[in-house]
Amino acid sequence: MKHFFILCCINFVVHYSFCQSTVQVNQSPSSIIVAQMKSVEINCQQSTSNAYMYWYRQKGTRGLQLVIFSPFMSSPEYGDNIPKRFNITRTDMTKITLKIENVQMSDTGFYLCAVTYFGNGTKLTVLEQNVSLPHVKILEPVPYKSNEFVTLVCLATDFYPDHIELTWEINKKKTTDNAKSDYRAVQSKSKTYSISSRLRVSRNVWCNADNVFTCVAKFYNETDKAIYITDHVSGKGKDSTLIRRPFNVEVHSYFYLQPLILE
Ligand SMILES: *[C@@H]1O[C@H](CO)[C@@H](O)[C@H](O)[C@H]1NC(C)=O
Ligand SMILES: *[C@@H]1O[C@H](CO)[C@@H](O)[C@H](O)[C@H]1NC(C)=O
Ligand SMILES: *[C@@H]1O[C@H](CO)[C@@H](O)[C@H](O)[C@H]1NC(C)=O
Ligand SMILES: *[C@@H]1O[C@H](CO)[C@@H](O)[C@H](O)[C@H]1NC(C)=O
Repeated sequence: MKHFFILCCINFVVHYSFCQSTVQVNQSPSSIIVAQMKSVEINCQQSTSNAYMYWYRQKGTRGLQLVIFSPFMSSPEYGDNIPKRFNITRTDMTKITLKIENVQMSDTGFYLCAVTYFGNGTKLTVLEQNVSLPHVKILEPVPYKSNEFVTLVCLATDFYPDHIELTWEINKKKTTDNAKSDYRAVQSKSKTYSISSRLRVSRNVWCNADNVFTCVAKFYNETDKAIYITDHVSGKGKDSTLIRRPFNVEVHSYFYLQPLILE
């Protein structure tokens, strides 16, 4: 009994102190955009042969919901209120495929394969309307008294669906330092989305007219098809950030969208 206890502890320490999972759960693809009434498949493979494999999903801001699971290789068990349009195939102990036939708008969500760990997830959008490409615009820093750093804001607006990622480049080189995007896009009444990202740079970097700052929106208009849409601005000559400009309409609209933008 004592040995068992010690083994458990070691196991616990090894698993949790290094956060290393012994089970790899690989699922693909990571993003699916599909028209209504079509069918989709999401694949998942585990590195071990655990008997139970599960599919969960998350919709909007709600918690995880069990969709369907496979005990051993027998027939699937369904989560609450999951229609029979959902099914799984498990031809092999290590592999499970989630199939959704005749997809409906209500199937849109983030699907996760789970064994003892979760896979990276698959973002599924069943299209409710036509694809719409983002408008991308960099808003230059609002001048303020603390002069050490300035914040550039990139706004991507009016896009659908919300499979998008915003990144920043300085002089064509990707920068992740001090760049931060909203956790999720915000949907407007017209059903299109907006999202913003902020880049904080030192005044010296901003006040160098040779520097070019680019915001890159990587937007998926269909599964596995990414389109890149960019906007760029040049650094301003010395001290331009000290001059207070009147707020313009764009500044108002970004305050409206993201009240916490200046953190
Ligand atoms: C899952 O995401 C992590 C972190 O982003 C990444 O390192 C890893 O390669 C991903 N795994 C797969 C199978 O895509
Ligand atoms: C699910 O798939 C299995 C195997 O392909 C099949 O036998 C079963 O009838 C399907 N279930 C439903 C509800 O379609
Ligand atoms: C979607 O696009 C089609 C063809 O371009 C057009 O006929 C239709 O009105 C559009 N639907 C919406 C909701 O904008
Ligand atoms: C997505 O973009 C590609 C390349 O621009 C284009 O060929 C395709 O028709 C677009 N798909 C949709 C659904 O708009």
